[in-house]
Amino acid sequence: MRNDNGLFTTVVIFGASGDLTRRKLVPGLYSLYRKGALPADFAVVGTSRSGIGHEAFREEMRGGVDEFVVGGSDDAVWARFAAKLYYVAGDATEADSYQGLNAFLQELEGGEANRLYYLSTAPRFFDTIVLQLGGAGMVQEKVEESWWRRVVIEKPFGRDLASAQALNQSVHTVLAEHQIYRIDHYLAKETVQNILAFRFANTMFEPIWNRNYVDHVQITVAEAVDVGHRAGYYDQAGVLRDMFQNHLMQLLALVAMEPPAFFEAEAVRDEKVKTMRAVRAWGEGDLARRTVRAQYEGYRVAEGVAEGSETPTYAALELYIDNWRWQGVPFYLRSGKGLQKKATEIIVQFKRPPHMMFAHEVEPALRSNYLAFCIQPHEGVHQRFEMKVPGPDFEIRSVDMDFHYDELFAKESVPEAYETLLLNALEGDATLFTRSDGIEAAWRVIDPIIQGWETAAAPPLGQYVLGSWGPHEADELLGKGGRFWRHGCVDEED
Ligand code: BG6
Repeated sequence: MRNDNGLFTTVVIFGASGDLTRRKLVPGLYSLYRKGALPADFAVVGTSRSGIGHEAFREEMRGGVDEFVVGGSDDAVWARFAAKLYYVAGDATEADSYQGLNAFLQELEGGEANRLYYLSTAPRFFDTIVLQLGGAGMVQEKVEESWWRRVVIEKPFGRDLASAQALNQSVHTVLAEHQIYRIDHYLAKETVQNILAFRFANTMFEPIWNRNYVDHVQITVAEAVDVGHRAGYYDQAGVLRDMFQNHLMQLLALVAMEPPAFFEAEAVRDEKVKTMRAVRAWGEGDLARRTVRAQYEGYRVAEGVAEGSETPTYAALELYIDNWRWQGVPFYLRSGKGLQKKATEIIVQFKRPPHMMFAHEVEPALRSNYLAFCIQPHEGVHQRFEMKVPGPDFEIRSVDMDFHYDELFAKESVPEAYETLLLNALEGDATLFTRSDGIEAAWRVIDPIIQGWETAAAPPLGQYVLGSWGPHEADELLGKGGRFWRHGCVDEED
């Protein structure tokens, strides 16, 4: 592996009894181990409050691997992997726990070692854990001569701009920025990374990727699931914090950014931050005109939701990026729970032909070319263009040229996002992680909406039927410009 200094490497997971550890982290590490991608000498140490022992932890984790890794666990591979899996009970708020954990780690490591601390706890503990690690002397690095210390921080990073800034400041008192890996698992999805390859490894599209040719861009992250058992968290968060500040803003940055000079963490993140900073600030009346908030019917009676809750489960935004490339081009972003299907897609809609000389009954708007990045579930890219139908009449029809990952690559060859992120953090590659200024730039766009929605400037809270494509207000948001939401990847009907 890259950046491998040959030392023993320990992955320490805080919040080890949580869902993420069982669903994503240990399955991701197991998959990496199976591929031979982990360092030769390594250990995974889970820690949380529950007083289970190594064996019970291993058993629980095997259940996760069987459930979430394609092909499940192989007896022989699992036996070797499980022997490197440990559990230490401890209270993340108590200094004594860190002394105990450190002593355990030192004995296990038997000398100089690298450590990756993964904070998979409730967000209110992020700050405490980092400061406690600092206080216990567990994050000092000796990179030039030997070991490194890195900390992966799960989302959400802050509840708003002020708390994100405070958290950044606090973790910077004990960690250098290069030691911090802020997670956004969308960045590790293969098809999200493919946006960069598509844009910057081809010459065909980049010349038209601007206000001269693009009419508008749509970013849809639709989820069929409702809030389920997560209402306690979700009702406090709402869709803007849960999906927009992180995932949708990252997708926006990748689609709209300028080409970086190098494919390297700082260069890529510089360009993303510049793009997010160029998003037009919200002026008076903008929230009512350019944002939509809604709740699915029945949300308020779901278990864990406060009575009369105004928490939006759906939002749609119209954003503008004030730079030379994108001036005047609307970017429409929408996301919600309880929608008809799971579908994440980005549509780059080109302008319609300036003059259509062929008589045709179809609405001219339908004839615009577009590109659709199908991020999930049916990963691929579609390109829509017009062609002549064979026959004596000069009939024009829209057709799709498409490519799908599952037609070209075996399913197992597409790594799960968390597997990629864990490997990158172990390799010291922060390209797919968010830098402190990136987090804050995204909050600067989203926070004023969250705050504004709590005032009289908010648009009315719309409602939508579970299993629909969202509220009519979202259609009107595009409709006023003669546009409409497209499904470039999923078939609406099936
Ligand atoms: C998480 C949100 O970050 O992303 C969840 O907290 C959401 O509410 C999930 O369901 C969606 O992720 P994915 O990978 O299933 O699109």
